[in-house]
Order: sequence, then structure tokens, then C-alpha cells
Amino acid sequence: MPLSKRPTLTQFLIEQRRRYPTATGDFNALILDVALACKAIARSVSHGALGDMLGNHGDDQASINVQGETQKKLDVISNDIFIKSNEWGGHLAGMASEEMDGPYPIPKNYPQGKYLLVFDPLDGSSNIDVNVSIGTIFSVLRAPQSVIDAGREVVSEDFLQPGAQQVAAGYALYGPTTMLVLTVGTGVYGFTLDPNLGEFKLTHEKIQIPADTQEFAINASNSRFWEQPVKRYVDECLAGKTGPRAKDFNMRWIASMVAEAHRILMRGGVFLYPRDTKDPSKAGRLRLLYEANPIGMIMEQAGGRASTGREAMLTVQPTELHQRIGLVFGSKNEVERIERYHAEPSPAQDDANPLFSERSLFRD
Ligand code: F6P
Repeated sequence: MPLSKRPTLTQFLIEQRRRYPTATGDFNALILDVALACKAIARSVSHGALGDMLGNHGDDQASINVQGETQKKLDVISNDIFIKSNEWGGHLAGMASEEMDGPYPIPKNYPQGKYLLVFDPLDGSSNIDVNVSIGTIFSVLRAPQSVIDAGREVVSEDFLQPGAQQVAAGYALYGPTTMLVLTVGTGVYGFTLDPNLGEFKLTHEKIQIPADTQEFAINASNSRFWEQPVKRYVDECLAGKTGPRAKDFNMRWIASMVAEAHRILMRGGVFLYPRDTKDPSKAGRLRLLYEANPIGMIMEQAGGRASTGREAMLTVQPTELHQRIGLVFGSKNEVERIERYHAEPSPAQDDANPLFSERSLFRD
């Protein structure tokens, strides 16, 4: 990139746009509004207790969101920042967020645009009060033609698009440095917030995830609820050099998915929050539209993989705005191995068919 050693996000977007002479600039303006929201959230997060930013929002009852989870003050502040930064520009037809029950149509006093923005304003909320990295995740979709033509208000169904249709996805990570990681479908780029300039500058170009890894992340306290393929995978990792994998593994659990995704982008690894039997009413812990799909697009664009364990995440047809799903992502060979374990017959069938028993030739 000939601009400078470290182009700003604005310069990067202008360079990208020059490849598409018919582009209107709406998309770039949208990403810059998103980046501005992330900078404002980073500022609020960094004030912590000094800015009275910690703790729950409202009293106990008022602080429960549509997910049945306790909303933190910073969840609500971050959601408001995202709405205010993105509703006015004329690039969006609507937004949807983890923190709002239904879709947010663009108010009538602003022009309506052709994109939809879906986001988790502050992922890893349980880490807010303990000063551990948290982040914002976002996904950009095209509004259906019927919304654009008729200028009608968006409804939940407009957002129910498979992850493969995302135009862009990204996250901001509020850690020792604030970073914005972005894909517009041409690889994954990482920008670090320069505190002197208040600008994101390109620091990580064309990020690639190593295909193999010796590091996995899973909340092991759920192990009694895991399905057999997940148990098998983790048992084999734990067995290390003495087990079928013949190598030792390391384990990490930050409990901020966005921070785990960033670690995996930087040095490889695999993350699992699989479907389990803990709460039969939930098909997983994480949300499809604003967690699994954007992280899935980033992983695939960086040469990694994202899956439900049973199918590629980006092919899943969403059925609900706040749908939950089992999520496995990271180093490609490892995710494919977990998918293979899911595709193999279950232990009940193992008993019935000795060809598939533990020591069978059909196991690798
Ligand atoms: O909201 C999702 C999330 O906070 C993720 O960022 C994280 O991976 C997960 O929940 C943590 O879940 P648990 O509480 O089971 O560790």
C-alpha cells in the first residue's frame, strides 16, 4: 500500500474503494461511523470506576435484557453510542442489537440507506467489572430490495440472512490497546488506535490463521453437558503426548469471545462453545447473527474455519433475530477434525456396530 507506512482506516477504505469505481462511498462512510462508535465505547470503557461506568444497569428487574441476561451499565451505554453514531448518516435501513428486543428502524427524520447493521455492542460483559478485555462485534448486511424500493420499515425477517451474505464484519477489542479488526471480503485487516491521533492505523495486514494448533478454548465447567464428539475432542487434547494426538495441548478461557477470537487470529487455536444439554431450550450459548456470523466471516477470510460442528456457520439459514447456536472456530484442520467427530456415528451406534468401536480401523 503506497500511502504511508501505516495508513489510517480512512486511507485504507479510500484505497479499497478505488478498486470499485461505481461505489457510492456509502459503505466507507458506514464503516467510519462504526469506527467512531468503537472509539467512543473505548473511551467509556477506559474510564471504568472513575466514570461510574461499572455495575448493573438499573435495579435487578430493569437490568434483564431480551436474552434473560443482566445488562451492565456499559452494555446500555455502548448500545446507545452505536445507535446514535449510525442512525443519522443515511447509509442504513435498520439496526439490530443484542441489547434490543426487536429491530431498530432508522427514524423518519433521517434518510434511509441500503445496509443493515447488526451488533453486539459489548461482548464479554462478565469481564467489564474485573478489567479484562471486552469488545464490540458487528456485521453489515444488504437490506432486502423490498425495503429499499418501498422505503418500508425493517422487520426481523429482513435480518435473517445466512452469514455468507455479509458484506463486511468486524470487531473492536478494548484491551491493553484498542484494535479494530475488519473484513470487507478481501482478507482480514487489523488497525490499532493511535492514542495520540485518535485514529485507527493499519498494523496487521492480511491476517492468516495457522491451519494447525496446540491450543484450545472451552468452558470446561460445562463438560458434563457436552455431546460425545466434543467430549472425545477435549479428552484427546487433554491426553496430550500420551494420547491419539501425540502432542501436548495448552488451554485458555477468557470468557470474552471477541478476545479469544483475536488470540486465535494472532497465533492460531480453536474455540468451542458447542451445543450442549445444559438448557434444552437453548441451542447453544452464543448468538448467530451478531456473534457467530461476523466472527465466522473473519475466521474464513483469515484462512480459518467456523462451524456449528455439523455445518459451516456461514451457510446456516437464521430463523430468529436472537437465535443461539453451537459455535466452533479457529485453525482450519482442528475445526475440520471436530466436524469429522460430529459426522461419525454416536456411541449408541458404536455399541451396535463393532466396526465403529473405540479401537476400530475407522478411527484415525
Ligand atoms: O455473551 C457471550 C459471552 O460473554 C462470550 O463473550 C463468552 O465467550 C461467553 O459468553 C462466556 O460464557 P461463560 O460464562 O460460559 O464462560
